[in-house]
Amino acid sequence: MSGNGAALEVVIMAAGKGTRMKSSLPKVLHRLAGRAMVRHVLDTVETLQPARVVVVTGHGAEAVEAHLGGHALAAAGRLQFARQMPQLGTGHAVQQAAPLLCDEGVVLILNGDVPLIEADTLVRLVQASAGERLVVLTVVLDDPSGYGRIVREGEAVQAIVEHKDASPEQRAIREINSGILAVPARHLKGWLARLRNDNAQQEYYLPDIVALAVADGVEVLGLATDDEVQVAGVNSPQQLAALERACQRRQAEALMAQGVRLADPARLDVRGRLQCGADVEIDVNCVFEGEVSLGEGVRIGANCVIAQARIAAGAVIHPFSHIDGEKLGVEVGEGALIGPFARLRPGARLGAEVHIGNFVEVKNATLAAGAKANHLAYLGDATVGERVNYGAGSITANYDGANKHRTVIEADVHVGSNCVLVAPVTLGAGGTIGGGSTITKDTPPGALSVSRARQLSIPNWQRPVKAGKA
Ligand code: UD1
Ligand code: MG
Repeated sequence: MSGNGAALEVVIMAAGKGTRMKSSLPKVLHRLAGRAMVRHVLDTVETLQPARVVVVTGHGAEAVEAHLGGHALAAAGRLQFARQMPQLGTGHAVQQAAPLLCDEGVVLILNGDVPLIEADTLVRLVQASAGERLVVLTVVLDDPSGYGRIVREGEAVQAIVEHKDASPEQRAIREINSGILAVPARHLKGWLARLRNDNAQQEYYLPDIVALAVADGVEVLGLATDDEVQVAGVNSPQQLAALERACQRRQAEALMAQGVRLADPARLDVRGRLQCGADVEIDVNCVFEGEVSLGEGVRIGANCVIAQARIAAGAVIHPFSHIDGEKLGVEVGEGALIGPFARLRPGARLGAEVHIGNFVEVKNATLAAGAKANHLAYLGDATVGERVNYGAGSITANYDGANKHRTVIEADVHVGSNCVLVAPVTLGAGGTIGGGSTITKDTPPGALSVSRARQLSIPNWQRPVKAGKA
């Protein structure tokens, strides 16, 4: 995939401190759209099927290495780490990775804090290099201050000069180095060995390899992109927030391009992967986290938070509902009606046409088709049969202080209002539970079961009067 058939290797620089984040979390682990920035870079790189990826770590190295250790590339034995201590510049960073790299093909060099670079841009870079040319991804900025400037003679790139080292004429150049390069592997180690730190910051600058390539007669290409978002780096919470909005906007546009109807693309947050069938509608201020799928015709009301869940076709989630499947997941069946103000927790599995109304909490419970719990109720560790009607204010008492127990409510049971079902307990099919009952023993099918004090009326009841008043 390096353009000439030889191996592609990737170096991701992630050792910098990120002082301006003012955070104890290493900069590259700050999340964008729910994923650590360096994770975005690694996931994009993975699609290029590189032979090897080396992540250069330094500040917060243990945390960064632990975070990436579970990545598929690591499992495939294609991810390695190189520690850079202390951090003496970007050239020094790549020097630490160099012993792990081979000498043919292309080495693609990326920044861990430039999260939204896209695979096709990288493919263009690698193909332009073809293991022969040094290719720099550039962008023209209105305000280039702080960046390395691309110094050209005619079309040909001659050098990259860092802002702090640049002359006034060079500072007027608006084409800058994105920090992303594709380098012929057979030249890289030699150039790295020749870097010097006699510059304004006394650092080993990676971009200095451009001048070395020119001196060696190796062709240097500056490949320009007009997409600032792809090359935007994050140094501060302000830049992170700005890039988050740009990323969310792109995700929203992609969903709309598939036909998803968003009430307002500026008021959607997808922090993971959202898959949608045809004719899905999403109202404002919804947040989706982890893996969420919405079947055909699903409607999501305003202000819902939905994580790790599968919502089947035709289901409607009314406003202000909170659905979080965490590790167990949540399933909502076809045509189900959820909310407003519903809470579905891990292991909630709802069949077709189930109704869950306001202030109802469901956890680790299966509800068969047509079951309804419309108001103010709790169903935890329960198996609920078809067409069960579960009254307002009723709860499963599933926890005895030490262990959790299961409640089984068979098909067609009606549970009245304000019942306490003390688990483990089974309510037989078709039975009715009188309102206000505390049920501690299994109930027979078809029966009315009641457990509460009998109603009593004392006639002509005299209310107490205040002392001293006749
Ligand atoms: C760098 C480039 C500059 C370019 C800009 C684009 C150099 C000398 N300059 O500048 O031409 O316009 O990026 O954003 O390369 N890092 C290490 N170890 C180090 C230093 C940095 O791993 O010793 C990592 C950082 O974590 C970061 C990346 O390298 O991911 C870039 O470092 P940064 O300090 O942001 O470089 P800039 O000064 O912005
Ligand atoms: Mg930077």
